[in-house]
Amino acid sequence: MILDGKIVSKNIKDSIKNEIDTYISLGNRKPKLVIVQVGEVMASNIYVKNKIKACSYVGMDAEHIKLSEGISEEELLNIIIQLNKNDEIDGLIVQLPLPKHINEDKIINMIDSSKDVDGFGLLNKGRLFSGLNGFKCATPYGIIKLLEFYNIDFKGKQACVIGRSNIVGKPMAIMLLDKHCTVTICHSRTENLKDITKQADILVSAVGKAKFVSVDMVKPGATVVDVGMNRDENGLCGDVDFENVEKIAGYISPVPGGVGPLTIAMLLSNTLESYKNKL
Ligand code: GUN
Repeated sequence: MILDGKIVSKNIKDSIKNEIDTYISLGNRKPKLVIVQVGEVMASNIYVKNKIKACSYVGMDAEHIKLSEGISEEELLNIIIQLNKNDEIDGLIVQLPLPKHINEDKIINMIDSSKDVDGFGLLNKGRLFSGLNGFKCATPYGIIKLLEFYNIDFKGKQACVIGRSNIVGKPMAIMLLDKHCTVTICHSRTENLKDITKQADILVSAVGKAKFVSVDMVKPGATVVDVGMNRDENGLCGDVDFENVEKIAGYISPVPGGVGPLTIAMLLSNTLESYKNKL
């Protein structure tokens, strides 16, 4: 069965839209998300465009601040400081990657944690790792929502995450642990990868290589979540050899139309949360 991210994302966005309509009918301002982008990375242009479109769908204000590739780290830090001070801004994100001369960690951690709706800052990551309320990274949070929608069983199940990035792999593992899975994190140095992935009832791949997850790596009946965003001869594709894995998986998320739409929905959900905290 297909895990359809478009349907789940639309449900979440419609409920956000309804909530915003109610706040506005009571005389409140609209929630506002600011997206800072530096330079002209093609993928970032597409992601930002989709984020702005989604804001408009739910009735949020979106401001896109596009800065030149040559901006200095100090200038960018000062822009963030000014945006932090603006009480009418609920969510503030800096689209990654940044140019090499800018320290991403320094910029991300300058964002006030109450506006860090990407959940990339140390404080929100620390809250996640400590089981406290905070903004959760949108992609893994969206995956949890996708699996919950399809009533996937988490409790006591074996979950395997392939990939250990700070914005997907690691937070994904913690969120699955919080759902009472037994979690294994695999990565490029893992030995006998196939033996481990084959044990998984829930397999999440965030590797970035087309057809990396082959059918012999998957337990029959498993739930397979594909976070990959790759290009092959046929265009956009994930990490999973979809055509073959689909035949044995219990549930599988496609690329496109799986995890991607959920990431944006959860970014909006975090921004609405921030707005409600501020009101
Ligand atoms: N670059 C790739 N994915 C993301 C994301 O979810 N947020 C930000 N800020 N940058 C990204």
